[in-house]
Amino acid sequence: MSRVAVLTSGGDAPGMNAAIRAVVRSGMAQGFEIFGVVGGFTGLINGQFSRLGLRDVGGIIGRGGTILGTTRCEPLKTQAGQIAAVERMRGHDINDLIVIGGSGSQIGAYELSKRGLGVVGIASTIDNDLVGSDTTIGAMTALDVALEAIDRLRVTAASHKRVFLVEVMGRDSGHLALSAGIAGGAEAIVIPEIEVDPETVAQEIRASYERGKSHAIVVVAEGARYNAEGLARFFNEHVQRLGFELRATTLGHIQRGGAPGVFDRMVATRLGAAAIEHLRSNSRGVVLGIVDGRVASTDLSAVIGGKRPLDMHLFDLAAILAR
Ligand code: F6P
Repeated sequence: MSRVAVLTSGGDAPGMNAAIRAVVRSGMAQGFEIFGVVGGFTGLINGQFSRLGLRDVGGIIGRGGTILGTTRCEPLKTQAGQIAAVERMRGHDINDLIVIGGSGSQIGAYELSKRGLGVVGIASTIDNDLVGSDTTIGAMTALDVALEAIDRLRVTAASHKRVFLVEVMGRDSGHLALSAGIAGGAEAIVIPEIEVDPETVAQEIRASYERGKSHAIVVVAEGARYNAEGLARFFNEHVQRLGFELRATTLGHIQRGGAPGVFDRMVATRLGAAAIEHLRSNSRGVVLGIVDGRVASTDLSAVIGGKRPLDMHLFDLAAILAR
């Protein structure tokens, strides 16, 4: 019976558990023996494997987080860490590894695949910025959380005729901010991909007031040069001149918690099952994601080379719709 290990890595994302469940149950249906790695790549380097059976993944499809635990593993960036990880796999007679995670995790997966391990990645990050997937596990649930917050903040912004800055996650990319901003009807969206100075944001708000609006929502990605803190400092220093009152809210890790919605459960389930299919058909060294509604595989080397570009048409559209 062929042995397969599965781990979750990097920032947790709602739906990771659904993917683990799909790996275990579809893997066992195909005759694989499945081992969970406890604590991401750190657990792999330490040889923390735990055999998973059908009942071990019962009741987890709707649970956020990851039952296996996760880490951001610095030692895996070193040769010694990578060699230890491969040795632990070999020592347990496990040839193949399924890595559920985002870009940093897939870089680790790539390094191990170059060292001869059979690796299949599953695109999972709330940041939604992986090459080779239109949508990654967790992104839609995180967006729902951000959207609920924006809707609530708009209510109080309208009552007080204030400007609210809402900072969403996205260290390197503005996918979350762009989608949350459009769906939340934001007056301005600030993302890392397009540098904008605080005076320009102030002008956008001023212009929207001049068009008759009484309040405004600005959605900011945490990775933007001027995040909520930077923008709030500027606005508060110039409050007399600008003439509007402002409050800032940082959503932070709230976006990563909570139960996955139906979309993420479905994506995670399809990708988990597809990972087993790929191992069965000897397809390794790839990351699985969703492209045009279908499961798609992209070479690890292509996935780690960059990040999924933003749809700039949507960014321009957001400005038109904010009028
Ligand atoms: O998982 C992605 C992410 O949520 C980013 O959006 C964010 O910048 C980062 O993780 C936060 O990482 P940590 O939980 O390690 O502070």
